[in-house]
Amino acid sequence: MTSGLLTVAMPKGRIFEEAVGLLREAGYNLPPEFDDSRRLIIDAPESGMRFILAKPMDVPTYVEHGVADVGVAGKDVMIEEERDVYEVLDLKISACYMAVAALPTYRAEEDVNPKIASKYPKLTADYFREQGEQVEIIKLNGSIELAPIVGLADRIVDIVSTGQTLKENGLVEMETMIPITSRFIVNPVSYRTKAAVIDDMVDRLAAVIEEGVS
Ligand code: PRP
Repeated sequence: MTSGLLTVAMPKGRIFEEAVGLLREAGYNLPPEFDDSRRLIIDAPESGMRFILAKPMDVPTYVEHGVADVGVAGKDVMIEEERDVYEVLDLKISACYMAVAALPTYRAEEDVNPKIASKYPKLTADYFREQGEQVEIIKLNGSIELAPIVGLADRIVDIVSTGQTLKENGLVEMETMIPITSRFIVNPVSYRTKAAVIDDMVDRLAAVIEEGVS
């Protein structure tokens, strides 16, 4: 894709709207397709940008391989994926946190062979290794809260935002792990070859974030 446009990888799903809102606040004129479309590539030539809409977990992959110059990725995804990209700005959107949860009747101290379900197997393995606890990890791709209810796992490691999903499924938080927000990430080569346009984007986003904080 050699369009001459800055290619931005955006995460489809719950981060998307907030990320689009932030870009608009930063003065980028995004076309109406952003609000209601199933297209995966959206050009915004008046802003000099092309957007590719990827699964959140895949955004750092597109940026690492250079098919996107920059992208928006959750800190959870950055930790799990360990991609070779620069994380240049905390966008401070989509704030949530990672937590360990289980059924209220669950007693970790009585569990000799704990099974942990998660969409984040690496992050989960690292966490329990640091805690000095040996666990078996079961990788799932979503609806993680189901696992303890049906007996697939004893505990889960997942994102908590409002806490509604845990609550509605009768699970309780056992440990809070890491705070999560979305990050602006950059391909290392693009950061050199397209420095001016990327620096400008970082400055504009940083200014909007700063306004929101003060
Ligand atoms: C995420 C996460 C939790 C839920 C937390 O799932 O995995 O299930 O949101 O949000 P809450 O605390 O506001 O209830 P998502 O909806 O992204 O879908 P998934 O189950 O496919 O991962």
